[in-house]
Amino acid sequence: MEYLKIALPKGRLAVQTMEFFKKAGIKCRDIDEDSRKLIFFDNDANLEIFLVKPSDVPVYVEYGAADIGVAGKDTLMEEYRNLYDVLNLGFGKCTMCVAGEEQYIGRMDEITNKRVATKYPRIASEYYRNVKNENVEIIKLNGSVELAPLCGLSEFIVDIVESGKTLQANGLVVLEKICDISAHLIVNKVSMNIKRESISGMIDALKKELDNGTGI
Ligand code: PRP
Repeated sequence: MEYLKIALPKGRLAVQTMEFFKKAGIKCRDIDEDSRKLIFFDNDANLEIFLVKPSDVPVYVEYGAADIGVAGKDTLMEEYRNLYDVLNLGFGKCTMCVAGEEQYIGRMDEITNKRVATKYPRIASEYYRNVKNENVEIIKLNGSVELAPLCGLSEFIVDIVESGKTLQANGLVVLEKICDISAHLIVNKVSMNIKRESISGMIDALKKELDNGTGI
C-alpha cells in the first residue's frame, strides 16, 4: 500500500476530523494536538499526517506537499486553489454571513458606501459584486472581525457564524446569509493519478461512514 500524506487543520476542525477519520477506520495514531509537534507518522497505516493552520491546508495540497487535506468550504472558496474538492464531509457546519448592528435590519439597501471588514476578502467581494451588484469597501482583517463595527472600522462584517455566540456577545446580528459551509476532503491533482488506489480507498471509507450516517 502506498504512503499517504495528509494535511489536517489545527483548531476547531481538528478534533472533528480525527474523530470522523477514526470512525471510518482511518487511524491517526499518536496525534497530540496539545504538543507543539506538527508531523506524525502511522507506519502501520502508511500515513504521514501534518497539522497545519486551516487556511494553509489547500496550499499544502495544491503543491503536493500533502496528497490529501481537510479544509472548510470557506477556506476553499477564499483560497481558490488548483485541486480536487472530492467530498463534502458534512461536519464543521457553519454559515457565511453579513453581520452588523441590529439597527441595520431591513435597512441594508439604504446604506451607501458600505465598509465591510472580513477575513474573507474574496468571498465578500464576489458576494457584493455578483449577488448584490454593489460597490463596497472591503477591509481585510486577520481575526476578531466582530470588533470592527464596535469601534467604527466598518458598518458590516462578512464572517462565519457557528454557534452565534461571538456575534451575540458583541451585540451583533446576522443581516444576510451568504452560503452554508462545512468541511471538505481535497486531493492533489497529480496524487489522484499516481496514488489512485490508496486515495480511492480512503474516499470510499469516508463515503461509507457518511452513508452510515452515524455523524460525529
Ligand atoms: C470564528 C469566526 C467568528 C467565530 C464564530 O473565529 O471568525 O469570529 O469563530 O463562531 P461562533 O458563531 O461559534 O461564535 P475564530 O474563533 O476562528 O477566531 P478568529 O476570529 O481569531 O479568527
